[in-house]
Amino acid sequence: MVDTEAQIIENKNIVLDYFLLKLKLAKTMGKIMPGQFIMLKIPGNEVFLRRPFSIYDYDKDILTVMYKVVGKGTEILSKTSKDNSAFVLGPLGNGFRVNKRDVYLTVAGGIGIAGIHFLIKTLKEKASVFFGCSSNIETTLLKDITHLNPMISTLDGSYGYKGNVVEMLTNYLETVENVDQELFICGPEGMLKSLKASINKSKISCQALVEERMACGLGLCFGCVKKTIDENEPYKRVCKEGPVFDLWEISL
Ligand SMILES: Cc1cc2nc3c(=O)[nH]c(=O)nc-3n(C[C@H](O)[C@H](O)[C@H](O)COP(=O)(O)OP(=O)(O)OC[C@H]3O[C@@H](n4cnc5c(N)ncnc54)[C@H](O)[C@@H]3O)c2cc1C
Ligand code: FES
Repeated sequence: MVDTEAQIIENKNIVLDYFLLKLKLAKTMGKIMPGQFIMLKIPGNEVFLRRPFSIYDYDKDILTVMYKVVGKGTEILSKTSKDNSAFVLGPLGNGFRVNKRDVYLTVAGGIGIAGIHFLIKTLKEKASVFFGCSSNIETTLLKDITHLNPMISTLDGSYGYKGNVVEMLTNYLETVENVDQELFICGPEGMLKSLKASINKSKISCQALVEERMACGLGLCFGCVKKTIDENEPYKRVCKEGPVFDLWEISL
């Protein structure tokens, strides 16, 4: 893990409130696992705490983050111009484990694609991609992975499957039997909850990238805990034991 200065070399609006941020790190972060994250100090003094972001892409000293504007920090970030400095702490947390399987199903909802993109890039053609969003406008977020023919669902029915991504995935799973497969998912809590309910009978292996608001990002403040189903260890820290958990281990 390094705590290093980074120079913003690109901060581009992709579509709607989604942005791509490219950072040139003063110090390399070494090897990272897909699903790990950074704590990013938003330039300026208005936002005191660093904010957590998944590593969307990483190559030597260039780190890319995809983010959505949701509050004060991300709004300030979206207005920050190129050449400003930020501070990056990372890589943090435990990422996705790629077990040997015949089939890897990756599932993202909206900005959840930011958390799963680096895994998809690592798996290359071995990844089947399921993406759910509100309307066809957000399919622009898949521009780097269109060659993998992602299966897309839109809530307004303007592209692909009309409905949510969990329904689309469940329909797909009903068409395949006796396959050695693993699911990787990143999206809002409601989506994780509904997927869990929907595959509860089959109990397919599933790793989920979970988000919580964070303060330290280092396992010190216990501000980011998630409830588990384990009576001996009822809470786990998303920043330290996560952000990737076995879907069956967490309470949703
Ligand atoms: C491990 C991890 C990886 C993440 N990766 C990404 C990413 O790649 N791209 C991205 O856009 N976002 C990501 N997030 C979420 C991101 O950290 C928040 O959107 C960001 O901190 C919001 O900061 P803000 O100052 O703009 O919003 P705030 O003013 O702090 O909050 C605005 C609103 O967002 C909600 N919110 C803030 N943080 C979270 C959170 N962590 N989970 C759920 N709701 C939250 C608040 O409750 C509030 O309603 C990640 C979060 C975690 C924990
Ligand atoms: S954010 Fe402090 S323990 Fe996780």
